[in-house]
Amino acid sequence: MRVKLTRIEKRHNRKKFDCENKDLNDFLAHSARTSDKKRMTRTYVLEDPGDPNTVMGYVTLTSTSIDIPDECYAGRKLKNPVPALLLAKMGIDKRYKGQGYGKRLLTFSIVTASEVSDKIGGIGLVIDAKDEEAKAFYVHRGGSDLEVIDESGLKLWLPIDICDYLATLQQQKSQQKPGA
Ligand SMILES: CC(C)(COP(=O)(O)OP(=O)(O)OC[C@H]1O[C@@H](n2cnc3c(N)ncnc32)[C@H](O)[C@@H]1OP(=O)(O)O)[C@@H](O)C(=O)NCCC(=O)NCCS
Repeated sequence: MRVKLTRIEKRHNRKKFDCENKDLNDFLAHSARTSDKKRMTRTYVLEDPGDPNTVMGYVTLTSTSIDIPDECYAGRKLKNPVPALLLAKMGIDKRYKGQGYGKRLLTFSIVTASEVSDKIGGIGLVIDAKDEEAKAFYVHRGGSDLEVIDESGLKLWLPIDICDYLATLQQQKSQQKPGA
């Protein structure tokens, strides 16, 4: 059975979630739903097909306004500050790591950045990596298309033309699937 990606709801068991990062666990347990209800952020969860209330992973998206440094090639002609979609938080429960679910949430975020930008504008997906290990995951997936945009080195930007390209590839992939 395919793992479902859905908006966070009251029924989801947020307190049992453990991605081995306290801040990310605490955000899901105590803040994600309230923030979602107030439309400050949107949180999407992957449900375990065997128990749909079990959260396998989550991603929290919101809008942001950022300054792109002059050194960024893709940002040369932009006038700061610029709007973008922010991947604020993401975690996969330790029981489900290493099975492609982080990749699925990142792809979802990239496709969302493309869709939102098409409707209201936005220069791509900005990612707040929590630490160097998290950054390594994003760099592994995004490669040289990801640009570092702050001095900490943990704020990353995937330009909108790359998001659009990856979203198109993703659409073609899902159309090729039987029954899609
Ligand atoms: C980082 C995290 C989201 C990755 O999720 P995951 O489901 O285990 O990752 P996936 O199985 O989708 O991995 C996809 C690919 O990334 C690679 N990868 C996973 N974690 C990686 C890391 N920390 N560094 C480099 N590469 C990594 C995998 O090897 C895999 O490579 P492949 O496609 O070439 O085979 C997860 O480990 C996690 O929740 N970590 C703790 C919280 C965190 O750091 N969140 C992100 C910060 S906001």
